[in-house]
Amino acid sequence: SGFPSVLRNGLSKLGFPREILELLFNWVDGNEDYPKIPEAKGSISAIRSEAFFIPLYELYLTYGGIFRLTFGPKSFVIVSDPSIAKHILKDNSKAYSKGILAEILEFVMGTGLIPADGEVWRVRRRAIVPALHQKYVAAMIGLFGQATDRLCKKLDDAASDGEDVEMESLFSRLTLDVIGKAVFNYDFDSLTNDTGIVEAVYTVLREAEDRSVAPIPVWELPIWKDISPRQRKVKGALKLINDTLDDLIAICKRMVDEEELQFHEEYMNEKDPSILHFLLASGDDVSSKQLRDDLMTMLIAGHETSAAVLTWTFYLLSKEPSVVSKLQDEVDTVLGDRYPTIEDMKKLKYTTRVINESLRLYPQPPVLIRRSLEDDMLGKYPIKRGEDFFISVWNLHRSPHLWEDADKFNPERWPVDGPNPNETNQNFRYLPFGGGPRKCVGDMFASFETIVAVAMLVQRFNFQMALGAPPVEMTTGATIHTTQGLKMTVTRRIKPPIMPVFNDDSTEETTIMLD
Ligand code: HEM
Repeated sequence: SGFPSVLRNGLSKLGFPREILELLFNWVDGNEDYPKIPEAKGSISAIRSEAFFIPLYELYLTYGGIFRLTFGPKSFVIVSDPSIAKHILKDNSKAYSKGILAEILEFVMGTGLIPADGEVWRVRRRAIVPALHQKYVAAMIGLFGQATDRLCKKLDDAASDGEDVEMESLFSRLTLDVIGKAVFNYDFDSLTNDTGIVEAVYTVLREAEDRSVAPIPVWELPIWKDISPRQRKVKGALKLINDTLDDLIAICKRMVDEEELQFHEEYMNEKDPSILHFLLASGDDVSSKQLRDDLMTMLIAGHETSAAVLTWTFYLLSKEPSVVSKLQDEVDTVLGDRYPTIEDMKKLKYTTRVINESLRLYPQPPVLIRRSLEDDMLGKYPIKRGEDFFISVWNLHRSPHLWEDADKFNPERWPVDGPNPNETNQNFRYLPFGGGPRKCVGDMFASFETIVAVAMLVQRFNFQMALGAPPVEMTTGATIHTTQGLKMTVTRRIKPPIMPVFNDDSTEETTIMLD
């Protein structure tokens, strides 16, 4: 009974006009009894509320693993079923593009690796993946440690002064510093400085997030887009970032030209191990807009996501002191007071489980976006070309049908001696880094970055929600943010030892703090 749709697809590939096929096959389809995707009847205002994936979760419980949401002329299919997610992301991934995501991100990422589709994506994926080889990721461990150490210094000052800290913005700065060095050997030093370039990055990020949740694309309106102060600010920020990128590319190109070294598989320049250096050494075209688009894409992809993971991990930890104790025991045993090394990544097993579990409860991004490029079957439902899909990773990760105590933060659900959970061994009910050909290229990088940060921070400090801290609620752009920050009280964990000191000429005991 799938024959009409096979025929229809075939004719469409041969170039038959869509309108004619539609007329023809509506008539044929009418004779078949295909089930229709359930239509969710939700109020639109519900969807516009703070975090849009929350009403989608409610609708999932009512309508199931695949349902359609319609607002006026627009319609979206919400997928929360592991096997349908696997079909779209992996088994038939060729039949899907990034759709609206590419449209929204075009102004900042151009045709960078995240929004790119088709041949551009294929060529660039092949160029970029080799840059994140094992030796590179291992070299990054040192960078993660140094950047986290800078954050520790800040926290140390706050602890001394008895001042509370807003961790979400600090994590955002930590991961910006890391990704700048890692991708193009640039030290934003945003934990200590607020330079124009740091502000420019945040202006662009905020714009990308606002556009992704805006009901009307005002930035496309003629005239308005040129005179709106906000759009002019965004343009200025983009120009500053692009000029900086141009400078960094030129500097890097000079370094590459002076090198004797031959390019090979695990090529890495010890002084500048950045992804940019690898790409230029491998022969990437310096003048291309594509190179800039890819650098910008990695800057954004690797910054916001990791920051969000750290923020929600510390929020979850603040509510589970028993998990913190276990975590600190492991870190004390494995690291003592050393910096983490690549060998430690295998040994910090419980730390890894804490991150795995944090990624389950707060997936970044909470939904994956696709558009069908041809007609297809999703489970028992036929779908047409040109439909927009939201794969709700949030729903998959919190489904009461797929998980025991789905909402509970329980790192123990994955035994430390078992395999590291991923989309394959969890049958697509767990997708922290996506799956299929478009899976995250930075998964290993991001895992190690967050493991190093969490290990070093709990090694040195205890964290608690600050007294009178605002309630921690969610809002979304591309990743899940808090609405009012994550205000915490930080105390030094290893207190200076208090030692009794005996004076020679008296038996009076005094105590001296050693610092
Ligand atoms: C793609 C998550 C860190 C670069 C993705 C996707 C997810 C994801 C879910 C798939 C998107 C989709 O299928 O639509 C994360 C998380 C991170 C993280 C949770 C941190 C904890 C990074 C880092 C980098 C990076 C550090 C860069 C070094 C990319 C790129 C893609 C991607 C380039 C697009 C790959 C493609 O389409 O071929 N990421 N990511 N990510 N990520 Fe990450």
